[in-house]
Amino acid sequence: MPALIDTFTMSNGLHIPGIGFGTWQIPDGAAAYDATRAALDAGYRHIDTARAYGNEASVGRAIKDSGVPRDEVFVTTKCPAEVKTADGARHAFAESERLLDVGPIDLYLIHAPWPWNAIGSDHRAGNIEVWKVFEELYDAGRTRSIGVSNFDVDDLESLAADTDVVPHANQIRWFIGNTQDETTAYCRERDILVEGYSPLATGGLLENEAIRAIGERYGKSVAQVAIRYLLEKDVLPLPKSTTPSRIAENADVDFTLSAEDIATLDALEDTDA
Ligand code: A2P
Repeated sequence: MPALIDTFTMSNGLHIPGIGFGTWQIPDGAAAYDATRAALDAGYRHIDTARAYGNEASVGRAIKDSGVPRDEVFVTTKCPAEVKTADGARHAFAESERLLDVGPIDLYLIHAPWPWNAIGSDHRAGNIEVWKVFEELYDAGRTRSIGVSNFDVDDLESLAADTDVVPHANQIRWFIGNTQDETTAYCRERDILVEGYSPLATGGLLENEAIRAIGERYGKSVAQVAIRYLLEKDVLPLPKSTTPSRIAENADVDFTLSAEDIATLDALEDTDA
């Protein structure tokens, strides 16, 4: 089955299409609407947005206008990183629900363990409070799965200490040279799906000669090798583009990297450090 619609299965049995279309940094309005429509036209069936991206209304409208049946599209959104109270989480979810207007959300994530202006600060109690609301939303069927984003092992352990549902997914920054081995292994052991955002290092990998040389052997671009690499590692890639030809290119990754080429890619240093 093509990678685009082949699915990963989360610990609760929910299927999630193997490549998600990332909408980070795509402005609300025509840009987000057109990009989401282009992704759905190209065959993507998984769209990733967030309250913080400010583009949920356009993403939702694109999904509704696309003609693709709602139950064939997997929609993820996120509770803002700054929200660390139960009331705040309930309000944020209701806002996302209203703006997307596509019925139940498929996956709802805590965007980060800490507010973006205080990376690394301690919000263990707040994350537990927020997660308990997530558990309520999940039990009520308003979201079909729940997870986290940007959580490391300590963050995941702190959450597990006082909550019932193990996150179904952890969405982290993941690309060649930045493979987050410790967090990835921890998630693997607990059946937490790892989703990788910025699989092209937000463009940082695109000029990499070693990746280009590997791609040439398969007739594939650097972007396609970089995205395929995540799939080879059982990490769900979330590439982002606003260019229709690139949106399609990033989904055309039905090839298999050889063990030797994967080993070469494993050895590449973080080019984005
Ligand atoms: P654009 O949106 O102008 O097409 P990441 O997914 O790692 O966040 O990377 C996104 C960045 O990479 C964006 O700047 C995007 O540009 C660019 N990009 C996405 N896909 C491709 C591609 N296939 N070839 C070249 N650049 C790409």
